[in-house]
Amino acid sequence: LNNGVGQTPQMGWNSWNFFACAINETVIRETADALISTGLADLGYVYVNIDDCWSSTTRNLEGDLEPDPKTFPSGIKALADYVHEKYLKLGIYSDAGIYTCQVRPGSIFNENRDANLFASWGIDYLKYDNCYNLDIPPKKRYPPMREALNATEHTIFYSLCEWGVDDPALWADNIGNSWRTTDDINDSWWSMTAIADLNDKWAAYAGPGGWNDPDMLEVGNGGMTYQEYRSHFSIWALMKAPLLVGCDVRNMTKETFEILSNKEVIAVNQDTLGIQGRKVSAEGLDGCRQVWAGPLSGGRLAVVFWNRFQKLPLLQPNGIPLVLNQL
Ligand code: GLA
Repeated sequence: LNNGVGQTPQMGWNSWNFFACAINETVIRETADALISTGLADLGYVYVNIDDCWSSTTRNLEGDLEPDPKTFPSGIKALADYVHEKYLKLGIYSDAGIYTCQVRPGSIFNENRDANLFASWGIDYLKYDNCYNLDIPPKKRYPPMREALNATEHTIFYSLCEWGVDDPALWADNIGNSWRTTDDINDSWWSMTAIADLNDKWAAYAGPGGWNDPDMLEVGNGGMTYQEYRSHFSIWALMKAPLLVGCDVRNMTKETFEILSNKEVIAVNQDTLGIQGRKVSAEGLDGCRQVWAGPLSGGRLAVVFWNRFQKLPLLQPNGIPLVLNQL
């Protein structure tokens, strides 16, 4: 989408993967503080994105969305002001349906009203989800919000979260700054690698202004090993995927920080050429020895050697997982 943002994949943090619905304004403020104090903000992680569950279960009497008064008593504008003072940006979440996935009011048929509200709060980023969508195709439901956001004259990064339904890479380039290519990630090697393969297919459609989104990072959430999280981060960087941290950055381990703060890997992701790297070979057992690569500016090339060994959930009779060393 040619709206001036997303010239490189978006970088920042999102509340969902770690906190799910257990969010509040203190968590968001402390996360903004932590992005600054850890140095992640200086490395490019500038979007602080609030996901589902920030809003009340009903609209107010005027018909506007309103923040849950128990968890966001100071309101979203106050939070936007807080993160802007730190030169960060604030993201919010809504849904191209009648409810969000956690059954808060959605924005379908209220696109202009809600876009104006977000703009009046100073919101910089909208993640727009796909639940309770009345079976209307995404191609019809996502453009009205783009129009509404454009009409506000406030630049808002528009992130389509349509879960890959109807192959968005083929039609979303003029609608959003990124589009999801798959279902939700979970914090496992199996999910992460499966998603990487699905996202690979759409490489040709990514570029400055519009990116394939294989979902947010799980690095630091505990379900994968250090090496697996390094693989996750490397492939996301090479695929020009959004680098949206999904852990609790207030309490990161040294290892998690080391992965997320790797300047060279980040530079691959943020390279100005904006060409999505691809899987170029797969050999060995189940094609597990893989090479992924892609061009960078200045005639350079980024290469990832990826050990894609699939851990099979085989248990020995004593219940201990069988570890295969066949590489
Ligand atoms: C969907 C989205 C997730 C997250 C949840 C919130 O599943 O794909 O990324 O936003 O909704 O309910």
